Amino acid sequence: MADILSIEHLNVALKKSPSRLLVKNTSFKLASGKTTCIVGESGSGKSLTALTIMGLLSNQLIATGRVLFNGVDLTTLDNRGMQKIRGAQIGMIFQEPMTSLNPVLTIGFQIGEVLTAHQALKGNALKASVARLLTQVGIPETRNSSYPDELSGGQRQRVMVAMSIACEPALLIADEPTTALDVTVQAQILTLLDELKSRMNMAMLFITHDFGVVSDIADDVVVMFRGEIVEAGPKEQVLGNPQHPYTKALLDCVPDVAGKKELNPIDYAWLNHHELSNSGASS
Ligand SMILES: Nc1ncnc2c1ncn2[C@@H]1O[C@H](COP(=O)(O)OP(=O)(O)OP(=O)(O)O)[C@@H](O)[C@H]1O
Ligand SMILES: [Mg+2]
Repeated sequence: MADILSIEHLNVALKKSPSRLLVKNTSFKLASGKTTCIVGESGSGKSLTALTIMGLLSNQLIATGRVLFNGVDLTTLDNRGMQKIRGAQIGMIFQEPMTSLNPVLTIGFQIGEVLTAHQALKGNALKASVARLLTQVGIPETRNSSYPDELSGGQRQRVMVAMSIACEPALLIADEPTTALDVTVQAQILTLLDELKSRMNMAMLFITHDFGVVSDIADDVVVMFRGEIVEAGPKEQVLGNPQHPYTKALLDCVPDVAGKKELNPIDYAWLNHHELSNSGASS
């Protein structure tokens, strides 16, 4: 199957200290209709990788390498070129729903804006699409005139989901989209995303800390540690037979529902020693 996304040797660094890489030599591919989950510790470069794909890196940062989307290197596009793709062909659910929504605009308006910008929808057709999207993410359509601060964290996250899928993108990037949700709403959103994936052959890049979600939805898993991919492959291989000590340590921290498993917090001193003696990699 053709890859819709291919990241090749991506490096991200601060402009003022380009030798200290925040994302190091990252490469992976994603095919249409497939889901890749990125897992890894806080600060390991997961969000920076996602933001680079969207062309939304802060201007204090610089990226090198290629981000091929349907064969086009997105890093070569100007802002106008990127705007046509962003929201229409690539949707993103951001990690921070409150800072990503405009506090002075109603949620109905913000969802509608995406449809007007990319599909020129107006009037009753626009209203009907916004109502359908709200219902799809489990928010009553009567809430379309609510402002973001009138909604709970989970509802705001669902508004983000509605905006990201409004144009039925070919690729959806989701940065911890279900972290703020209770398990029943989380299941509802995951089912919705899964349904979109099958119906539209959508590809999903899903960043999460939740191994329950990984085991539910992933085809492939990418494990990031200190800016680098330390392990990647099919879910069964990475979860069932992890090779890298960080992946093993990460899986050791996951509780089982019955609470029978002994939890082992990650021993960073040991990991540092192992890393340095094996690869010399450190940040
Ligand atoms: N605008 C920025 N300026 C400077 N450093 C940044 C900037 N954005 C991110 N970083 C740094 O880059 C590293 C990777 O950040 P990133 O947000 O990708 O982490 P993450 O893996 O998504 O973590 P989390 O699980 O906590 O969301 C971190 O050390 C972070 O402090
Ligand atoms: Mg992040």
